[in-house]
Amino acid sequence: MRSLRDFLQIGAAAVGIDIGKSAIKVAEVRRTARGTELRRFGVAPTPPGSVEGGLILDQQAVASAISEVLRHAGVRTRRAVVSVTGQNVLARVLRLPPIPPEEVKQAIRWEAERHLPFPVDEAVIDVQMVREVTENGVRQLEVLLAAAPEALVLAHIRTLEGASLVVDAVEVGALAMARGLGQTEAEGTHVLVNLGASTTDVAVVHDGVPQFTRTILLGGDVLTRVITQLLKVDAATAEEAKILYGLGWEEGPENLPEGAYTTEVSQALAEMITQVRRSLDFFRAQFTGVVISDMILCGGGSRLRHLDHHLSNELELPVTIANPLAHVRPPNLREQAAHAAAPQLTVATGLALRTVA
Ligand SMILES: Nc1ncnc2c1ncn2[C@@H]1O[C@H](COP(=O)(O)OP(=O)(O)OP(=O)(O)O)[C@@H](O)[C@H]1O
Ligand SMILES: [Mg+2]
Repeated sequence: MRSLRDFLQIGAAAVGIDIGKSAIKVAEVRRTARGTELRRFGVAPTPPGSVEGGLILDQQAVASAISEVLRHAGVRTRRAVVSVTGQNVLARVLRLPPIPPEEVKQAIRWEAERHLPFPVDEAVIDVQMVREVTENGVRQLEVLLAAAPEALVLAHIRTLEGASLVVDAVEVGALAMARGLGQTEAEGTHVLVNLGASTTDVAVVHDGVPQFTRTILLGGDVLTRVITQLLKVDAATAEEAKILYGLGWEEGPENLPEGAYTTEVSQALAEMITQVRRSLDFFRAQFTGVVISDMILCGGGSRLRHLDHHLSNELELPVTIANPLAHVRPPNLREQAAHAAAPQLTVATGLALRTVA
């Protein structure tokens, strides 16, 4: 079993790269006397069919698109941090008996076997010490296990190398999301949700430490597909309708029976919401007594009009939309563009912050 770190080199400032099915997002941050700044950023469409559910299906096409977005954004650093996501990518806090640090890795290997949905020999694993806890007089170590299939990690590294980049780190997307939202410092228990086109990442963060993450293989694409069928239009027109009407609470497309649009779109969201609810139930069962105070949304899908209110009603939690730029000031010149893209930039910003934080 190899460690994520075995693949990596130590570096200074780096650019964060978030490869999604719908868009490639890049962010470069730097620390200044006035705080941390988003120095450069870019969002560009992913070549159609080249990414799906966290998998890179066409490394060459994605590499060219990354080169282009970096060039356009004016990013010159060649050091990159990239995220991975998908069905077999996860992070979880585990408890171990107090053992010497050199034995932690081996102990985690046994533990990982119980938690990974795929063979541990095919995984790259990263372990971070969290803290020591004493409960009922028993001392235990809390460690954060992060795991991803080796093939997926290698595909991301090769893709970045294809874009003439040096990979400083590969990180679980949901952990980058937590850093991007500054939850690493926050108190209390929050659930963070990154709504993409083909994936939805969920992370529960407790007192600044991500406790568990999960990826649901559903995203905003589901809605576009339903709208395509409902309106009998092509995907691009359906996408426009989705952006214009959102859940259709204020206004919906003409020539449809009253409420038909809202009903269909809400139904399309139902399975995703059920799976998010299951993740929260899992967390509550594992961490009895811990109360989730709220939900924070990011990713392009979080911009769906009224989604925050809908999720709040369904999950009985206060829901807000993330602004990673609350912690990282955007460049003056492009302030407006940065704020418009902010929720979609959360993971890329979180990745870049890894090197300056
Ligand atoms: N204003 C909007 N209203 C509704 N949906 C939107 C809006 N803007 C973007 N989206 C949706 O957001 C999604 C793209 O967001 P994002 O860039 O976070 O996804 P991705 O990272 O490419 O996908 P994935 O993570 O699944 O690979 C698309 O489904 C798109 O339709
Ligand atoms: Mg994404």
